[in-house]
Amino acid sequence: EKGGWPSFMDKEIHEDPEAVANTLLGRFDEQGDIVLDEVHIGLDVFRQIDKIIVVACGTASYAGMVAKYAIEHWVRIPVEVELAHEFRYRDPILTPRTLVVAISQSGETMDTLMALRHAREQGSRVLAICNTQGASIPRESDAVLYTHAGPEIAVASTKAFVAQIVAAYLLGLYLAQVKGTMYRDEIRHILEQLKGMPEKIQWVLDNQAGNVEQAAKQMVNAHSFLFLGRHVGYPVALEGALKLKEIAYTFTEGFAAGELKHGPIALVDAGEPVVVIVPSARGRNILHNKVISGIEEVKARGAYTIAVAELGDPDVEQYADVVFWRPVCPTLLSPLVDVVPLQLFAMDMAQLKGYDVDKPRNLAKSVTVE
Ligand code: BG6
Repeated sequence: EKGGWPSFMDKEIHEDPEAVANTLLGRFDEQGDIVLDEVHIGLDVFRQIDKIIVVACGTASYAGMVAKYAIEHWVRIPVEVELAHEFRYRDPILTPRTLVVAISQSGETMDTLMALRHAREQGSRVLAICNTQGASIPRESDAVLYTHAGPEIAVASTKAFVAQIVAAYLLGLYLAQVKGTMYRDEIRHILEQLKGMPEKIQWVLDNQAGNVEQAAKQMVNAHSFLFLGRHVGYPVALEGALKLKEIAYTFTEGFAAGELKHGPIALVDAGEPVVVIVPSARGRNILHNKVISGIEEVKARGAYTIAVAELGDPDVEQYADVVFWRPVCPTLLSPLVDVVPLQLFAMDMAQLKGYDVDKPRNLAKSVTVE
């Protein structure tokens, strides 16, 4: 049951740290090598994989988009991410060396199931990343990597999203290990950093919920929102936007920050709320400056700006009306913390509007029709 929380969504957001910790549990040995015992695909097959295609819908597809940045960087093979319902109907290029990764919380999404059937018919291997033991998608896949987020009841996915990112990252590190594209020490180092993430997520829950609530109160009557991010912040922007659509019924557009000047800036008018995921300023990150100048642009047009930014960011406060702070963490792991205030924000908005946050209108937890 809800265990004292006002909604399942509230409870499940507060289980984000645990979902990350539990998904990591038992996935590495004492030496810090990744062990994916439950994945019954041979080492020789893994070594031959030369392309990954992630198929998923909704939130799960955004977890796949996050993973693309990490896996391509670590394993040096192309990773495509495709909405499952588009995949099957465009004659995708599939070979026995293609690994199709089907990501699904429920494991019952028909679009995703049909996509994986198609991939297997074409001779590709399918690995499922799933949160539900024994569901159709894992049953029909060649291998499964379960997320251990625990049952997710609220229709809008929260803790499953962070767990899906962790599982996909474990898969990426495992591939890097078997293909030898990374040094063992590097893999161990990233594992250590992953193990530190639950604490950082907890920090956000403990220290940023107040800011988030304030921003929600301020913006509760806004008719539309724009969310923008770059690099791994891009799928986080898409996910933040989706949450707001799903439960607060607010017209929201998420896009890549670099696209601003190619169109969406035309939407920005006085008072328009714009949420920006700001990359870390550390290491003279060039993307930091570019995203900051994006905030500057919208601010100059009178936007109300909400930034998700790293503690100690030297520039953000100058342009942002509100900042949701993230503790310092490696860029590739930042989506695990950055999505948390956005989950809270959507929930607060929905609550303030008097909506049922657990059961939004027109939506089902798992969509078992195509
Ligand atoms: C949608 C849900 O219908 O399915 C989303 O409303 C969810 O919240 C999507 O992200 C995919 O679901 P699953 O179970 O395949 O991860």
